[in-house]
Amino acid sequence: MINLAWLDGQVCDIGEARIPLEDRGYFFGDGVYEVARIYNSKPFALGAHLARLHRSAEAIRIAIPYEDTVIEKAIAELIRKSGCVDGYIYIQLTRGSAQRDHLFPADTRPALTMFVKELKALPPLENVKPAKCITLPDERWLNCHIKSINLLPNILARQQAAETGAQEAVLYRSDGLVTEGTRSNIFAIIDGVVRTHPQSNLILAGITRGIVLDIIVEQAIPFVEEAFSLKELKKASEVWITSSMMEVNPVFEIDEYPLIEAAPGKITRCLMENFRARVAAECC
Ligand code: PDD
Repeated sequence: MINLAWLDGQVCDIGEARIPLEDRGYFFGDGVYEVARIYNSKPFALGAHLARLHRSAEAIRIAIPYEDTVIEKAIAELIRKSGCVDGYIYIQLTRGSAQRDHLFPADTRPALTMFVKELKALPPLENVKPAKCITLPDERWLNCHIKSINLLPNILARQQAAETGAQEAVLYRSDGLVTEGTRSNIFAIIDGVVRTHPQSNLILAGITRGIVLDIIVEQAIPFVEEAFSLKELKKASEVWITSSMMEVNPVFEIDEYPLIEAAPGKITRCLMENFRARVAAECC
């Protein structure tokens, strides 16, 4: 497949895409983004991703310069022209290009850019590798519900995790409560009940998280949207992380403490299967 980009209506090869040096995303990280998975040449849960893009844009006062129908058509065109079967779509909205000044520029049109990239098809569930996680202080700002392109704390924590051989860093605030991962939401089964941080300014309302909560209700699995502490996390029987890129990924070790149940545990496995069924129903 060819990796194609869409820059405010113009389609080109990703290697040829040019963004103006004065784009405020480049200067200030003044923008928001979305990542949606493509399965079988179809974007998964695109409506939910666009709805979140609207919420993020509104929170930082950027008006999206296109109707959703235009964006959806452009995505379909990108997927078709690139020949993408398994991959992802990245969407970025910035306040546009203007002379460098912290103030919002007057009369500047926001810039919407997108690209599609190929990914390996997801492995069969029995080949999904359980993740090792470390825990780190959550050093991010207090608007984590906005999918901002400012990801420095996430990047630094993820790098630190990788340098210790872990796939994800699980973040906690100064009160010892776990929020989420650097690029994923986290769930744990503590005393037989599924727990995850409630939707608030301290976490991103993950699209995968929402679908998993839906499945949990459908399967009548006991759950509560209530934050858990680091101490509770370490006595969890099952833990998993979720994101558009990872789907439902079991965790086998936190800070070198193996979890009680071998990963994936029974509930994790049930959620992985049901998640794949949702993907198949929508895209296959
Ligand atoms: N990250 N929390 C954070 C901080 C994230 O960056 C992400 C996704 C999630 C999961 O959200 P969703 O289920 O909607 O993908 C939670 C994307 C994939 C990324 O930055 O690449």
